[in-house]
Amino acid sequence: MKVELINVSLRLRQDTQDLELLKEVSLGARLGMIHALLGPSGSGKSTLLYAINRLRQIQHGEITLDGKDIRQVNVFELRRRIGLVMQKPIFFPGTVGENILYGPSLWAKDNVTLPDPKLYLELVQLDPDWESREPHTLSGGQQQRVALARTLANNPEVLLLDEPTSALDAQASEHLETLVSNLCRERELTVIWVTHDVHQAERIAQDMTLLYRGRVVEHGPAKRFFAGPSTDEGRAYLAGKLGGKL
Ligand SMILES: Nc1ncnc2c1ncn2[C@@H]1O[C@H](COP(=O)(O)OP(=O)(O)OP(=O)(O)O)[C@@H](O)[C@H]1O
Ligand SMILES: [Mg+2]
Repeated sequence: MKVELINVSLRLRQDTQDLELLKEVSLGARLGMIHALLGPSGSGKSTLLYAINRLRQIQHGEITLDGKDIRQVNVFELRRRIGLVMQKPIFFPGTVGENILYGPSLWAKDNVTLPDPKLYLELVQLDPDWESREPHTLSGGQQQRVALARTLANNPEVLLLDEPTSALDAQASEHLETLVSNLCRERELTVIWVTHDVHQAERIAQDMTLLYRGRVVEHGPAKRFFAGPSTDEGRAYLAGKLGGKL
C-alpha cells in the first residue's frame, strides 16, 4: 500500500502556546519498499508516525493510503492495517503470548484458529517458550522484539517502526534488518523505519526523508542522499552536526 503525506501540518496546544510539530510535510512511501525516516532528536519523527496511525490529529493537509484519506477509514481497521512499533513499547496486561494474540483474537471469526505465538517469537529470534512470561521480565531489546512480533501477528500492510533496534546489539540488529527486509519483499509491505543510525539507513532503505525542526529538508532515493545530500542540512546531518529541537 502506498502511504502519502501531502502538505501536512500538525500543531499541539501547550499552555498558552501553539507548538507546530510538523510543518507542510509531504512525502511518499512506496509499496514493498523501506523508507528511512531520519532527523535529529525532536525533529518530529515519532509525531509523524503517530499522525499516520491517527494517534495525533493533523490540522492541515492530507494523509492517504493508496489515495484514500485515512480519516475515511475506520480507525480500528486503520490500526490493524498499519502496524506501529513504538519507540518504548507498551504492553497489555497478560503474558507475551497473550500480547501477541491480542490483535488476531480481536479480528478472528469464531471458527478460525488463532496463530501460534511461538512462531512469531521464533521469527524475531526469541525463545518460543517465553510466550508464558510477563513482558516486563524481559530486557529492553527483547521487549522491542515482542512488540514487533505482536505487530506482525496482525498481518499489517504498512509497518511503522520507531527506532526498533535502539536497544539491540549488532547481531540482533542485523537479524531484524534482514527479517524486515525479507518481509517487506515477500509480503509487499510498506515500511517506514525511524533510525538514528545512518549506516543502518544506508543498508536497509530504498527511499528516505530527513526531517529537521518539523520540516522535510531531504526526500528521495536513499542512494542519492547517501552519495551526496542536496542541502546544507543534509550534509550537516551526515557529518553528525545537525542539532535537535524544534
Ligand atoms: N505532548 C507534547 N507536548 C509538547 N511537546 C511535545 C509533545 N510531544 C512531542 N513534543 C515535542 O515535539 C517535538 C517532536 O517530538 P518527536 O517525539 O516527534 O521527535 P522525534 O524526532 O521522534 O525525536 P527522538 O529522535 O528524540 O525520538 C519535540 O520537540 C517534542 O518535545
Ligand atoms: Mg521519536
